[in-house]
Amino acid sequence: MSAPQPTSCHRYFTLFLIQGLIAFMLFAYHKFSYDDRSIVPAYTSSQPSNKSASNLIILLWTWPFGEVFPLNRCQKPFDNPQCFFTSDRKFYNIANAVVIHHRDVCTSNRQIPQIPRPEGQYWVWFNLESPSHSPNLHFMDKAINLTMSYRSDSDIFTPYGWIEPNEDGDHFAIPPKSQLVAWAVSNWNPHSRRVRFYGELKNHIQVDVYGYRHLPLARQDTLVVLSKYKFYLAFENSIHKDYITEKLWANALMSGSVPVVLGPPRENYERFIPADSFIHVDDFSSAKELASYLHKLDKNDTKYKQYFNWRTKFKPISKLGWFTQYCKACIALHRSPPYRSMPYLGAWYT
Ligand SMILES: *[C@@H]1O[C@H](CO)[C@@H](O)[C@H](O)[C@H]1NC(C)=O
Ligand SMILES: *[C@@H]1O[C@H](CO)[C@@H](O)[C@H](O)[C@H]1NC(C)=O
Repeated sequence: MSAPQPTSCHRYFTLFLIQGLIAFMLFAYHKFSYDDRSIVPAYTSSQPSNKSASNLIILLWTWPFGEVFPLNRCQKPFDNPQCFFTSDRKFYNIANAVVIHHRDVCTSNRQIPQIPRPEGQYWVWFNLESPSHSPNLHFMDKAINLTMSYRSDSDIFTPYGWIEPNEDGDHFAIPPKSQLVAWAVSNWNPHSRRVRFYGELKNHIQVDVYGYRHLPLARQDTLVVLSKYKFYLAFENSIHKDYITEKLWANALMSGSVPVVLGPPRENYERFIPADSFIHVDDFSSAKELASYLHKLDKNDTKYKQYFNWRTKFKPISKLGWFTQYCKACIALHRSPPYRSMPYLGAWYT
């Protein structure tokens, strides 16, 4: 009958002990973290066995777009990162780097860390959206040390895709084609250049449009459906240097459809993919002229197949999970990038 009291008393005492222990651990951890970073209490399963490896603590200030994912599986070749990743803001004071995903904090500058920054901590600005869709860049003025974006001149370059030498000699076969031109679009802005261009193009060639208010396309079917098309309109939502998204990498190249691109100039694309792997709308004086070129390719298989010659030497890589991007940050931080500050992000991110 007297059981409840001692139990709850005991419970409080245990709780007190645990709290004390945690406080001590955090204290010790903080105190030593700069000279001995291997004293890290919790590890992800990607924790390397090499005990001498110095582990950096990387805090995800937010989950990008609220998407939660396991912090333990990096895709090759970014696997085995020697970092402790966490989304728990309790680690703020001892984190070596805080990764701030722009779109999650851009509605109010109170969403970026308000607590004074511990000495030596990097603030990494992470963003994969184009400047047209990245409001309030001035929130970051005099706040960040490293940039992480699709821009190739970022401190940490996180493109939507890239090509790799096809070393395993994977034989690429052009998928069987039964359709002509496809376009998948979710953000339908009637004033955008791409929607206006499509409005012209469709008068001269059949274009199957998928997405919001158009033909249905389930995410898991995307590549299979698009692979049946000879051409895919990889039209970017806005035109900016290096802003070349999954529309090119996944929808076109991974599906085995020839990309017809609308985005930055041809030279910009050629920094990332072979000149003979895509068709650029700027190569034509009008949508009508582009349409007649596509018709011509449709009738001449030899000429059409030339758009796949590059596949004997290279293969496209795309669809990296979010976490792999954070693994890249880990690898970059281990290389001790120059610790600097970028006073006006908006002057660079245009
Ligand atoms: C098809 O294209 C090839 C390669 O450009 C060209 O040599 C050939 O003459 C074309 N055939 C026809 C029928 O136009
Ligand atoms: C990192 O950026 C902040 C804000 O600009 C700056 O105060 C800090 O000195 C920077 N770190 C270094 C050492 O460059």
